[in-house]
Amino acid sequence: EAGSIPADRVPDMGKRQLMNLLLLGAVSLPTAGMLVPYAAFFVPPGSGGAGGGIIAKDAFGNDVIASEWLKNHGPGDRTLTQGLKGDPTYLVVESDRTLATYGINAVCTHLGCVVPWNAAENKFICPCHGSQYNNQGRVVRGPAPLSLALAHADIDDGKVVFVPWVETDFRTGEAPWWA
Ligand code: FES
Repeated sequence: EAGSIPADRVPDMGKRQLMNLLLLGAVSLPTAGMLVPYAAFFVPPGSGGAGGGIIAKDAFGNDVIASEWLKNHGPGDRTLTQGLKGDPTYLVVESDRTLATYGINAVCTHLGCVVPWNAAENKFICPCHGSQYNNQGRVVRGPAPLSLALAHADIDDGKVVFVPWVETDFRTGEAPWWA
């Protein structure tokens, strides 16, 4: 019967660890709650492509190929694509001619107009009521109450894939209002 002792101990330890996890979870429930939806999008590559993300579509409805996009869009470019939930979402080309790892949702946080990019002003300026956002979509002038939403812009198999952004908004240091 001595051989059964280690076997008994293993599940005990497992239970204890589980209890610890549950305790931790109870303390940091909001954090865990935010992480779960994000974790759900980590689907192994090759298991059907984008997982919880969505492939960005250009104005013609074609998948956005990162290398092709960069041939036609220079540094500082912000051009609309179709993103998560079909929302118009800006792809951003950085000054080093790479794609930014975030896309900017173009839906104005005031009343939902699509906000055009104004390269001359280096801002997004809403034609409806004049709200302004900086070149990363952070609100700098109302009446818009909030910054433009973010999405991750990942590259998967050469294609741009938008994935929901549920982490801290790097522009404000605050929790994302849209997640
Ligand atoms: Fe953009 Fe009102 S909808 S400012």
